[in-house]
Amino acid sequence: MARRTVSSLAALKAAGERIVMVTAYDHPSAQIADAAGVDVVLVGDSAAMTVLGYDSTVPVTVDEMLMLTAAVRRGLSTPLLVGDLPFGSYETSDEQAVATAQRFVKEGGCDAVKIERGGTTVQRARAIVEAGIPVMGHVGLTPQTAAITGSFRARGRTANEALAVFESALALQDAGCFSLVFEAVPAAATAAMMPELHVPVIGIGAGDATDGQVLVWHDLLGIYGGPAARFVKRYADLRQPMTDAVAAYADEVRSGAYPAPEHTYGMSEDEASRLRA
Ligand code: KIV
Ligand code: NA
Repeated sequence: MARRTVSSLAALKAAGERIVMVTAYDHPSAQIADAAGVDVVLVGDSAAMTVLGYDSTVPVTVDEMLMLTAAVRRGLSTPLLVGDLPFGSYETSDEQAVATAQRFVKEGGCDAVKIERGGTTVQRARAIVEAGIPVMGHVGLTPQTAAITGSFRARGRTANEALAVFESALALQDAGCFSLVFEAVPAAATAAMMPELHVPVIGIGAGDATDGQVLVWHDLLGIYGGPAARFVKRYADLRQPMTDAVAAYADEVRSGAYPAPEHTYGMSEDEASRLRA
């Protein structure tokens, strides 16, 4: 598979081929995503919860995100790498947004960045695009602000609310976003908007009318212990075999079954007797 770019994603949409996106937060996961043939890897600020143990995405810092992003970059060859700008790192001004996006490109090795919501974010998206960095928008349920208002529900279940999502999506598209994420939007609302959206739309809990899907790594592999959203499908349940493996190791250390002779370095009898002397 050829290296994915912003324009090759547009070509996938034009060809009616669905786009596959996952999150990843470390080097081995990036290598696995690459080997599995995904198109886009997002270092999501979901890292705050999946790997850093915060109880929302709000606390994660740019420096924390950049360390994870650079590790993912070193594990990827084919997928497009998108970095998620964390809460508070882009909202204040166009200058702040561009400076943060530049760090994600220069220090994190990102091909593009993602920012949440419509409203004032639309102008930030425009500024980052004008600075030469591709931007992915994110509408519907936007966890950074949902955590503050405490409202983690689907967006667009009423016609009025769906129109608000649609307005944000169109504004972000007009601002030059190369792609949009739709999170937790009713399938019928998404389907109604799709004809007006000419950039690839990646859904998470947005039904099957989008141009692609994204899932969080720890959700899709069944590693994350917390509650899962309705849209999560677990393709494996790795938390249990990981727990079993560590528990088996603990048992063998305690019983003395590990290490066995094959895990042990040898020494000639001659050298051993000189040591004892
Ligand atoms: O942070 C994240 O994982 C995301 C995706 C769910 C789109 O923003
Ligand atoms: Na995110």
